[in-house]
Amino acid sequence: MTTQAKPEEASSAGSGGDKPFLSVRDLSVRFSTEDGVVRAVDNLSFDVSPGTTLGIVGESGSGKSVTNLAVLGLHNPDRTEITGSIKLDGQELVGASNRELEKLRGKTMSMIFQDPLTALSPYHTIGKQIGETFRKHTGASKKESRDRAIEMLTRVGIPQPTTRVDDYPHQFSGGMRQRAMIAMSLVCDPKLVIADEPTTALDVTVQAQILDLLKDLQQEMGTAIILITHDLGVVARTAQNIMVMYAGRAVERGTVREVLKTPQHPYTWGLLSSMPSLTGDVDVPLRPVRGTPPSLINLPTGCPFNPRCDFTEQVIGGGCTSERPPLAPATGPAAACHLSAAQRQDIFIDQIKPRLG
Ligand SMILES: Nc1ncnc2c1ncn2[C@@H]1O[C@H](COP(=O)(O)OP(=O)(O)O)[C@@H](O)[C@H]1O
Ligand SMILES: [Mg+2]
Repeated sequence: MTTQAKPEEASSAGSGGDKPFLSVRDLSVRFSTEDGVVRAVDNLSFDVSPGTTLGIVGESGSGKSVTNLAVLGLHNPDRTEITGSIKLDGQELVGASNRELEKLRGKTMSMIFQDPLTALSPYHTIGKQIGETFRKHTGASKKESRDRAIEMLTRVGIPQPTTRVDDYPHQFSGGMRQRAMIAMSLVCDPKLVIADEPTTALDVTVQAQILDLLKDLQQEMGTAIILITHDLGVVARTAQNIMVMYAGRAVERGTVREVLKTPQHPYTWGLLSSMPSLTGDVDVPLRPVRGTPPSLINLPTGCPFNPRCDFTEQVIGGGCTSERPPLAPATGPAAACHLSAAQRQDIFIDQIKPRLG
């Protein structure tokens, strides 16, 4: 058996103008807990096209992982209410059966986790684990699966793949384990890869290598990627599009170029000011976003960011505490904020930009 054919999109990889492979509309995810209903994701819409990367950023607890576990169909249905639409290549996943989702997971869509040890079993060799995923979805023989595992280890840059294929995860370094997990995620040439903080646990050099590897594989195969991170530097390096999440909602969306150059939402300003300078100017002092994220059981009325926002008094009519600002239009560049576009531009140029260095 030969390895799988390259997806058709490969030729148009990176063009970004394709029909989305993943289309999420008005997605809400709610958990019933003893303390009340947690609105972890609220009315979220986004698209990811073949050959492109969407970076999802936001503080811890903003709903990034919950969103992507919903796409993968990995929430426990008993205590989770999921509404809206998640279309993967036109197929509706909200309400899809476990059997349908099992067929897609690992094959059409796959996940790269932050900690490879949660995905890799300590009791089986790396080769066996990569091979099994391939076997399960393609019905390949043991020999073919082993060959495929070696091919994948070669592709992700593991030295001496023909011997390392028989190693156990603990015999690999952290960076190599992450490469092995990427090999496992990509073994069936999935068309959508969700990488949840894939490099957070790695040192800076290895992090850069892994991100470059993902980019190379994407160009080769035309994969659509969702990259979840709290690090805007990682997004700047790898993604074309960005969605900024706050309290389970998208507060800003656009191309990476636009959003990093002229961010529109006060929360994005805060995130940018709280990060080591993207331009490498280390003299600019960091300012963490003041305050803490709201409770997802009792969200503030109006804009969920209003208790932490420095600009609410400038909004004529004081809508920030009474009315939730919409993120409109549903796709394309947008910011969910009551400030007018002209006000945002003035504030950004006068007050925010000088801070960013
Ligand atoms: N199964 C669950 N039950 C109740 N609350 C949950 C569950 N999973 C996640 N949450 C809550 O949902 C919110 C978003 O979590 P998550 O998506 O993991 O954030 P992050 O942006 O850091 O990935 C958090 O407040 C988290 O505590
Ligand atoms: Mg997370």
